[in-house]
Amino acid sequence: MIPLSDNLLRWYSTHARALPWRDHPNPYAVWVAEIMLQQTRVETVIPYFERWMRRFSTVHDLAAASEQEVLTVWEGLGYYSRARNLHRAAQIVVCEHGGELPSDIPTLRRLPGIGRYTAGAIASIAYGLDEPTLDGNLRRVFARLFDVHEPADLSVGEKILWKLAAEHLPHGRAGDYNQAIMDLGATVCTPHAPDCAACPLSGLCLAYALGVREERPVLKPKPATPHHTVTAAIIERDGKYLLARRPQKGLLGGLWEFPGGKVEAGESLESALHREIHAELGMAIRVGAPFGIYRHAYTHFRFTLHAFLCYPNGDEPRALEAGELSWVSPSELSAYPMGKVDRQIARRLATDTLTGTRKNR
Ligand code: ADE
Repeated sequence: MIPLSDNLLRWYSTHARALPWRDHPNPYAVWVAEIMLQQTRVETVIPYFERWMRRFSTVHDLAAASEQEVLTVWEGLGYYSRARNLHRAAQIVVCEHGGELPSDIPTLRRLPGIGRYTAGAIASIAYGLDEPTLDGNLRRVFARLFDVHEPADLSVGEKILWKLAAEHLPHGRAGDYNQAIMDLGATVCTPHAPDCAACPLSGLCLAYALGVREERPVLKPKPATPHHTVTAAIIERDGKYLLARRPQKGLLGGLWEFPGGKVEAGESLESALHREIHAELGMAIRVGAPFGIYRHAYTHFRFTLHAFLCYPNGDEPRALEAGELSWVSPSELSAYPMGKVDRQIARRLATDTLTGTRKNR
């Protein structure tokens, strides 16, 4: 065995993190975990994974669930297309593969939400196949070990890194090897201030020898994240609030929200609200008291949302842009999956109603 995998597997035998999907007898559990772990930290994923496996213990349970319930259990993890794809893929696994998750890479990759990285992780971890994988941690570890100069997030760098990930795989131990590098990247070879003194590979690491560990991996320059000002209408009628369901495609697809939209340059918050609600719901509203200001950041943009209590001016709302509309009482809001900011608003509406502190109009 070559020293890289030798040293690494020895380190892993005493330093592996105890994670709930490890040594799980069911490949479905590894699949669920790998989808949740895409762009999300292990500590964040653990409680979601445990809740998910209690609710959808098998691929059959997941396939039979409603999308609304799937999104509700996923709520708070973000990147909701992952949940919708996992749900669709579970239905395909049940209908076309007899309820068994496939093990070979091409068949795995035909399932919604499974790309090259996730297919490699499932094949190696759940099925013990000799397949490489390359997540952010592996990318950083290999870029440092072999001092890769090419940007790791461009195809030129990715190609080199996938080759390195495959070249050093120990036969029959790919699952442990891949997970060892994930753990090393998460706990020792961290993006900033890596703990090289604790690293089993420092003697082999080119970036360490050259003193460039903080400069690896090289990444393409990031564009500045734009900021948007957004308004939302909390439209109340007879003690119920109007929720709109976002279209299936795109950001927060299939989730519910308080309707509204972006404020244009030179426009007041109130005019933006009238314009957006007219376009989205075909209705006129009276804008009442400001309810709150909320800030949130996604990967590609940040926004500040101004929420207002609003009241219909007699018109019935129509779903002109939304997938669906619903008038919801405060106690039922928790059954409607939402993004983070809308959930904060909904929680406050529910608690204010319970404590009788809702000041109307
Ligand atoms: N990140 C992605 N997949 C992982 C795994 N199986 N173990 C630890 N971290 C991970």
